Amino acid sequence: MFSRLLAPVLLFLSLGFGARADVLPPSAPVEERVRHLLAQMTVEEKVGQLVQYSSRDDMTGPAEQSSITPQLQSGGVGSMLNVVGAAETRRWQKIAVEGSRLRIPLLFAYDVIHGYRTIFPIPLASAASWDLARIEEAERIAAREAAAAGLHWTFAPMVDIARDPRWGRIAEGAGEDPFLGSAIARARVRGFQGDGSFADAERILACAKHFAAYGAAQAGRDYFTTDVTERVLRDVYLPPFQAAVDAGVATFMSGFNDIDGTPCSASPFLLDRVLRGEWGFKGFVVSDWASVGEMLLHGNIADLREGALKAFLAGLDMDMQSDAFGPHLAALVREGRIPESRLDAAAGAILTAKFRLGLFEDPHRYSDETREKTLLGHPDHLAAARDLARRSAVLLKNNGVLPLAGSGLKVALVGPLADAPLSQVGTWRARARKEDTVTVRAALRQLYGDGLRYAFGCDVRGDDTTGFAAAVETAQASDIVIAALGEDASQSGESTSRTSLDLSGPQLALLRALKTAGKPIVLLLMAGRPLMLEPVAPLADAILMGWHPGTMGGPALADVLTGAYNPSGRLPLSWPRSVGQIPYFHAHKNTGRPAPLREGDPYYSRYIDSPNTPQFPFGFGLSYTTFAYDQLRLSSPVLRDGGVLTITVRVANTGARTGEEVVQLYVRDRVGTLTRPVRELKGFRKIELAAGEAREVEFALGPADLAFWRGDMTFGAEPGDFDVFVGPDATAKLTASFRLE
Ligand code: GLC
Repeated sequence: MFSRLLAPVLLFLSLGFGARADVLPPSAPVEERVRHLLAQMTVEEKVGQLVQYSSRDDMTGPAEQSSITPQLQSGGVGSMLNVVGAAETRRWQKIAVEGSRLRIPLLFAYDVIHGYRTIFPIPLASAASWDLARIEEAERIAAREAAAAGLHWTFAPMVDIARDPRWGRIAEGAGEDPFLGSAIARARVRGFQGDGSFADAERILACAKHFAAYGAAQAGRDYFTTDVTERVLRDVYLPPFQAAVDAGVATFMSGFNDIDGTPCSASPFLLDRVLRGEWGFKGFVVSDWASVGEMLLHGNIADLREGALKAFLAGLDMDMQSDAFGPHLAALVREGRIPESRLDAAAGAILTAKFRLGLFEDPHRYSDETREKTLLGHPDHLAAARDLARRSAVLLKNNGVLPLAGSGLKVALVGPLADAPLSQVGTWRARARKEDTVTVRAALRQLYGDGLRYAFGCDVRGDDTTGFAAAVETAQASDIVIAALGEDASQSGESTSRTSLDLSGPQLALLRALKTAGKPIVLLLMAGRPLMLEPVAPLADAILMGWHPGTMGGPALADVLTGAYNPSGRLPLSWPRSVGQIPYFHAHKNTGRPAPLREGDPYYSRYIDSPNTPQFPFGFGLSYTTFAYDQLRLSSPVLRDGGVLTITVRVANTGARTGEEVVQLYVRDRVGTLTRPVRELKGFRKIELAAGEAREVEFALGPADLAFWRGDMTFGAEPGDFDVFVGPDATAKLTASFRLE
């Protein structure tokens, strides 16, 4: 016992005060470097690595916080969030490294959700591009800018599947589909982390969040309870997280929500059994903001000591802002309630990240003011942001009024989103600057000069209609009206759930007033989610979903409106007709009463006041050209274990201009030991075809692609008959069948 007490004292004296830790050289395997450093650390210093605090300058959650400098200098903090900028990160790093005994550097983290200074379209928008290469490139650029500003780690990608647009955070993800969501999760992780070597200090740690099923919040209300069966959890919500692990994601973030009665941050099922046990995840898990402390409000713990014990033993490694791990874990280890091996595993995972980032060789490696000045907002970055934004826009309706005619046209641009630089960049705008954003108004002004007439019209909230008269006058004096309506940035993202998804404030009334001018109307929708268009669509001759398109959203949407770019975006979610239909998603079950048994039979799954179908289906989007599908062929009518079925379809551009099409493959398992979805996305290809060009597109399907979580909770496919559907969206009609034996 005595030697146990004496060892840390002798060690402390031998190392002296403030002396650098004895760290093995970079040539040594990182596991050895970690073990060697852990052996020098006291229990308190190991616990310190598990503590994350926010800077007070940019709090992204509710908190009272006094200065944390004393904890930094005692080695009691392992990471900070919301410290940004080369100078500021350097300053805090000096405090931590030079003031502490072992001089272990901090990790600096920030929410780089869709760009750092150059803001890309919100993630839901870029998901609508179905362009994995450009999505990856956007994250590479975001990482490059964030890294130059001293950041080591982003709390992204958010990979939560969302099927309820009342939930404002649908804006941050990739929509409703596990297959598309998994592909995008992999692309985003690759973009942030590259090959994971972090050799060039231009990549940062990624973070798959919010683990798990946060998007299944009951009633679409943020932070609310989620209650899904384990099968739905595994079939729908977990796949994008597993995809992130497969792509080598360095960290995870546990969600705020309680799932099946257990808060995610203390869920052994999620954090240990699935994440480590089944998926072999080797990184570390940080809690979402104060979510360990919030277990008190969940009514799941009596005090923070119990919260620290429960969450840490469940598999949580780092406590963001709760003050649970810092004050309690060391005592719990000394009491033997927590094995020191678990503490070593958690602290070791965090130290591993710091070694991988090269921070022990140079703690200020990422805080480079010269690079910061040259890289942030670089013209190449802005060009990439414009390109992705235009590829993300989805043309939902067009009576032929788009693309706009060229110069000489008199254009009335009206509405609260037309000249809204901060709303245009959407939620989680990181370090966007108002002056960098090129608005729709600025872009169209550039194109049409004095031919462009602008009127604000009204706000997105309130009932002030005093701007209507000027707006209608502007419309009357023009050839065509572009109504830029939707949501401002405060109506989208975290904690912005809505019970109504109608155009808010007097916007619909403005649209109706504009209609009286008798000119064609293009509705340019700019929002973080689908808004309900049943009363709106008849008023518009064209509808373009521009989302919140980011810094270069103005020029990007102008490119689409004028035809400089032929729109190729496709919906990553089903667009409900009304809130009453929610949740609506394409991979729904058939039910026992999918349709009337006979003419007039009322007893089937329906509403008496609405069709069952969505306003627009998953995968939908129009182009300025047209495409046709035919010659669907299967390589065999039978697929056997170990075999591959090749599915070939011919796609032709039957219009008059080059365009891109997202060819989508859906599969239906006709009969299963469990009820199966009527369709599931199992492949997609985005291709470009010149006018008149036709091309064969191939997909490959193996038995593993047909697997699901079966009745006995094993994952696998079942023999039987399957249908494939290939086409431009989830209602694809071209079909063929095969048998899995
Ligand atoms: C927020 C969000 C999370 C974010 C974290 C840090 O509350 O839920 O997505 O990464 O806190 O800002």
